[in-house]
Amino acid sequence: MTLQDLLARRSVRKYADAPVPRTVVDAALQAAMAAPSAMHCDPWRWLVLTKRADLDALADCLPYGQMLRHAPLGFIACGDLTAANRGQLSYLLQDVSASIENLLLGLHAQGLGAVWLGIHPNAERIAAVSSRFGLPPTLIPVSAVAAGYPAERPEPRTRFDADKVRYL
Ligand SMILES: Cc1cc2nc3c(=O)[nH]c(=O)nc-3n(C[C@H](O)[C@H](O)[C@H](O)COP(=O)(O)O)c2cc1C
Repeated sequence: MTLQDLLARRSVRKYADAPVPRTVVDAALQAAMAAPSAMHCDPWRWLVLTKRADLDALADCLPYGQMLRHAPLGFIACGDLTAANRGQLSYLLQDVSASIENLLLGLHAQGLGAVWLGIHPNAERIAAVSSRFGLPPTLIPVSAVAAGYPAERPEPRTRFDADKVRYL
C-alpha cells in the first residue's frame, strides 16, 4: 500500500446495490487482525452483518449510521474485556481502533468503500447494540462499519496541519 492509497481512503456512505463476496470480507478481516495490539492480546471480536434485517437493526441503534439501510455489508467491532491487556478498557479501545482502521484499509485496498460508525462511549448506543445483538457484558461494542462497493468517490486528501505537529 502506497502513501497515495492511504490518502485515498475516505469515508464512503453510498454503495452500489451489489453483494460483497465472502472472500473479500475474509481478506479485510485478515487485515483487521494484522493490527498492532498491546502485549499481543488481540481482544478484538468481529460481528459480520449481511442480512438486511440485521443491517437495519444496527441502523435502528445508530442515529448517524442510517447508510446501513442501503449497505450490503456491515461490521460491529467489539472488544473482549477479559482478553484485553491487564483487563483495561483503554487497551481494548486502542487495540480495537487499530483493528478497525486496518479493516477500512483492507476494504479500500480491495475497491470497497466504508465508513466508521461510532458506538463507544455513547451509553445509549452501547446498550442498544448489546441488547439487539445479544452481547454479554464483557463484550464491548466499540464501533460499527458500513461497507459496500462505492457509489460515490470522495477525493483523496490529507488534513495535514503543521500547527498540530511539534518537532523536538
Ligand atoms: C470514532 C469515529 C466515529 C465516527 N462516527 C461516524 C458516524 O457515526 N457516522 C458517520 O457518518 N461517520 C462517522 N465517522 C467518520 C468520520 O466522520 C470521518 O472519518 C471524518 O469526517 C473524516 O473523513 P474521512 O474518513 O473521509 O477522511 C466516525 C469516525 C470515527 C473515527
